[in-house]
Amino acid sequence: MPAKLNVNIDHVATIREARKTIEPSVVGAAKLCEKAGADGITIHLRQDRRHIQDLDLEQLRSTVSTYLNLEHAVTEEMLLIAEKFKPDAVSLVPESPNEITTEGGLDVQSNVSAIKDAVQRLKAAGIHVSIFIDPSIGQIDAAAEVGADQIEICTAEYAELTLDHEDRRSDPAKVAAEIARIATAAKYAREKGLVVAAGHGLTTKNVGALASMPEISEFNIGHHIISRSIFIGLENAVREMIDAIRK
Ligand code: PXP
Repeated sequence: MPAKLNVNIDHVATIREARKTIEPSVVGAAKLCEKAGADGITIHLRQDRRHIQDLDLEQLRSTVSTYLNLEHAVTEEMLLIAEKFKPDAVSLVPESPNEITTEGGLDVQSNVSAIKDAVQRLKAAGIHVSIFIDPSIGQIDAAAEVGADQIEICTAEYAELTLDHEDRRSDPAKVAAEIARIATAAKYAREKGLVVAAGHGLTTKNVGALASMPEISEFNIGHHIISRSIFIGLENAVREMIDAIRK
């Protein structure tokens, strides 16, 4: 079965919040993604509320008919929100105040006790729990130890290596090494009984090498799809990514 695609629609809210107005509609965007064949919708409710707002979560909870994946940091405030709205899944992510986007995976190894408590609370609320981690054996062991159902492999490093800057072409040997690191992590996590997702910085150009790994059953992709939607429309951008995953 091809991997599922959850579309991260944070950037729709980013545009709205740039003007503190009512458009573009996050709910409308989610509906179009679903119509185009997305398997789910992902949103990140940040502590600084720079894009997605609490009301978006509330409205999406009652309108998303596929699968709603809420990313949030491990804080009491966020756990209470997740317990209240009960998204289908929660993805625990690290968050630091001045970052432009999520920088790397959560350090589960160094925070076992707090993350274990969070995972237990979310699971008790009937929520499927994923943890966003770097492709490291130690972090996978820790994710299994805290009782996560799923890991999401952070592909930021891979994305950076596959990005062709004007002044720097990607280095095939480095790309191959990073693909191998992700493949090893994905296999190891599956052997431990964890569901394996991947995301961050993925595009129609670089997703193929990961989509061909049978262990990866879900992708969370935002920036590229929303960027493409400016030129070809949201439905086409979602379909284009689904095609790239299934190719
Ligand atoms: N997965 C996680 C855990 C993320 O934090 C993000 C970014 O919000 C993504 C996936 C999607 O990354 P991108 O927007 O680069 O596709």
